[in-house]
Amino acid sequence: MSPSNGFFLLSLLLLFSILHAASFPTKIVDKVCKRTSNYSFCVESLYSDSRTPEADQYTLAFVAVRLAYLSASTTRDFITQLLKNENQKPLQICIGDYNMAVSAIIMADNDLNSETFFELADLANKAAAAADDCEAAFKGNQSRPLGNKNKDLKGLCEIFGVIGRLFTGH
Ligand SMILES: *[C@@H]1O[C@H](CO)[C@@H](O)[C@H](O)[C@H]1NC(C)=O
Ligand SMILES: *[C@@H]1O[C@H](CO)[C@@H](O)[C@H](O)[C@H]1NC(C)=O
Repeated sequence: MSPSNGFFLLSLLLLFSILHAASFPTKIVDKVCKRTSNYSFCVESLYSDSRTPEADQYTLAFVAVRLAYLSASTTRDFITQLLKNENQKPLQICIGDYNMAVSAIIMADNDLNSETFFELADLANKAAAAADDCEAAFKGNQSRPLGNKNKDLKGLCEIFGVIGRLFTGH
């Protein structure tokens, strides 16, 4: 074997071992996402944060809560903008819902900071219920300006609720 061939093989071997070590998704991400209603949404969402490949369960909880926070607060700002143009009833309901969702998610983040886990699932349900309430406000209306955003928030809350239940064993 020529030295250059040997080097090539060695590089290939190294590449394989690196790819193998950085398994995707990680065990904990796989475990969490299998318990959600949309596995690919869960994996995609979690991997949008650069901490996820190295994350243990605790860090992953922070990642999930942060994603939910970003979603809820961005949508809240969006609703505020919409309300400036038209002060319609569904949007008034939704702004209240999203204020509630953002508060619940901030509480979840505070809980995580103090390593308190037993309320996480409830807070996730609360924020998800707010998204449902907002969506219901458009009942009977053809237009669903917040449909995808409500779905996203629900999906993200489901993820941190699942992680919360892993901590408490329920
Ligand atoms: C699951 O999430 C993906 C986006 O990651 C989406 O395209 C798909 O429609 C979702 N599936 C269901 C059943 O909601
Ligand atoms: C339906 O939605 C449109 C656009 O979002 C809004 O202008 C209208 O007031 C809504 N109608 C009802 C009955 O809520």
